[in-house]
Amino acid sequence: MNGDTVDINVLTCPSSGAAQPSALLSDLIVALAHAPAIPGIEDGASAELLRKSMHYSLELRGKRARGLLVLLIAEGWNAPWQSALDCAHAVEMVHTSSLIVDDLPSMDNASLRRGEPSNHEKFGEPTAVLAGISLLSEALRLLASSKELSPGQRNDAVACLTSAIGPVGMAAGQMRDIYPVASAVEDVEFTHALKTGSLFAAAAELGCIAAGIDGPRKWMLSDYGMLLGKAFQEFDDLIDVAAPTQASGKDAQKDKDKPTVVSIVGREVAAKRALRQVAMSLECLEASCIQSKELHRFTLELTRAMRRTVGK
Ligand code: IPE
Ligand code: IPE
Ligand code: MG
Ligand code: MG
Ligand code: MG
Repeated sequence: MNGDTVDINVLTCPSSGAAQPSALLSDLIVALAHAPAIPGIEDGASAELLRKSMHYSLELRGKRARGLLVLLIAEGWNAPWQSALDCAHAVEMVHTSSLIVDDLPSMDNASLRRGEPSNHEKFGEPTAVLAGISLLSEALRLLASSKELSPGQRNDAVACLTSAIGPVGMAAGQMRDIYPVASAVEDVEFTHALKTGSLFAAAAELGCIAAGIDGPRKWMLSDYGMLLGKAFQEFDDLIDVAAPTQASGKDAQKDKDKPTVVSIVGREVAAKRALRQVAMSLECLEASCIQSKELHRFTLELTRAMRRTVGK
């Protein structure tokens, strides 16, 4: 996806009569479509292949939900969203890295991602693994060298993102997903909190860090991100069992042998649980005292987009 062909309806679907994105959201979607250039060494084919494979996954049409969250939160605190762009790109790079790894044959073994061949299908497994690692390192380099942030903010941003994706965050969640320890609904919910909620929470925190907001206001928004992320993963599990591949852009039924909220409580209850978590996330949003109109709208639009993909 490049800036000239960007689809500003990425979260809204005109064919189903959904509302058009606001002028602000449209601007943010365009800004996020320009992924930072990936540096590389001049050694000919192999370095170029690595860069190509990183750009390939980064620029495919994703929702950019986590990056948009960073920018909308900075804006909601009256900071210019441009001051949070590095944070937003870093979150999207980490997210894309996690998708490359998630699709690997040893993980979910998925051949389709964002409507196109998954990274290892296109470039081979060794390149995909190295692209995943390199996107993580690029994300951290972007934060650590960001001219948009003060030295203190850079430090906080790196600490926030690294703790969200490692052994007390996403990686731990992915381990629980692959090697389930127990299969009560609470166990799966904890897995969701780690594998998906922690990156949404970090996105919310990064928006605060870029805007210079700390303390209870930041933690309230972190809770908002966590709840939204958990709801998002429940909708995603519904998409896995209910949505056709052309709607989701990924292989269906990849998680059918794992304990999921859907397999434990059924589709109807899973959908209700997800909606309840969205409602709880909105309560945290209001309680944070941020200017919440755009964020409120974004939260509902993201929820509608997920429900439309599920097919209800
Ligand atoms: C997919 O995330 C992985 C999950 C955590 C469910 P998204 O649904 O945000 O994927 P893209 O970025 O839109 O492709
Ligand atoms: C992946 O969850 C969560 C990550 C941390 C990447 P899924 O395995 O359900 O994501 P999809 O459905 O493949 O996008
Ligand atoms: Mg998975
Ligand atoms: Mg998967
Ligand atoms: Mg899924």
